Amino acid sequence: MATKNTRASGSTKAKSQDPALQKLFVDSIKDIYWAEKHLLKALPKMSKAATTQELKEGIDKHVAETEEHVVRLERVFELLEKKPQAKKCDAMEGLIAEGQSIVEETEDDSATRDVGVIMASQKIEHYEIATYGCLKQLAITLGYEEMAGIFDQTLSEEMAADQLLTEVAESSINYEAATEEEEE
Ligand SMILES: [Fe+2]
Ligand SMILES: [Fe+2]
Repeated sequence: MATKNTRASGSTKAKSQDPALQKLFVDSIKDIYWAEKHLLKALPKMSKAATTQELKEGIDKHVAETEEHVVRLERVFELLEKKPQAKKCDAMEGLIAEGQSIVEETEDDSATRDVGVIMASQKIEHYEIATYGCLKQLAITLGYEEMAGIFDQTLSEEMAADQLLTEVAESSINYEAATEEEEE
């Protein structure tokens, strides 16, 4: 799926000299850096709240990937010759809070709890997918090939996490449907 980039990589010189675009790029990186770091605290809580092993394992796998996402962003800061800096991401703060309230409002060990955890987690993944997709494009526009590759790598993992959540949701729904038929 990855397209071969023919330009030499490794350059940290911006192709576009537009300072406003450059600022937007750096601010967006600070924003997702905050988001990823907060997800490292929020995702284990979601895993703990989940009732099925399949869902817990899926979230735990993504916690390990999220640790890598933080490290990759630190590499991006290094390429930009800037210190890693987090800027509060209001959107992610809201999405995490929504996930927490879903957990509080649903019963422990209920199927509804898992549906809620999946819904909240997918909203989070979709936000990350949108962010990394835009950052990858912006990096290409600014001539930062190596950074574009880094964002693409994380983007693929966010998409895979989202896909896995869809599969867990579908298999649970199928299971529920099967049990209901048996009961009839
Ligand atoms: Fe991430
Ligand atoms: Fe993610």
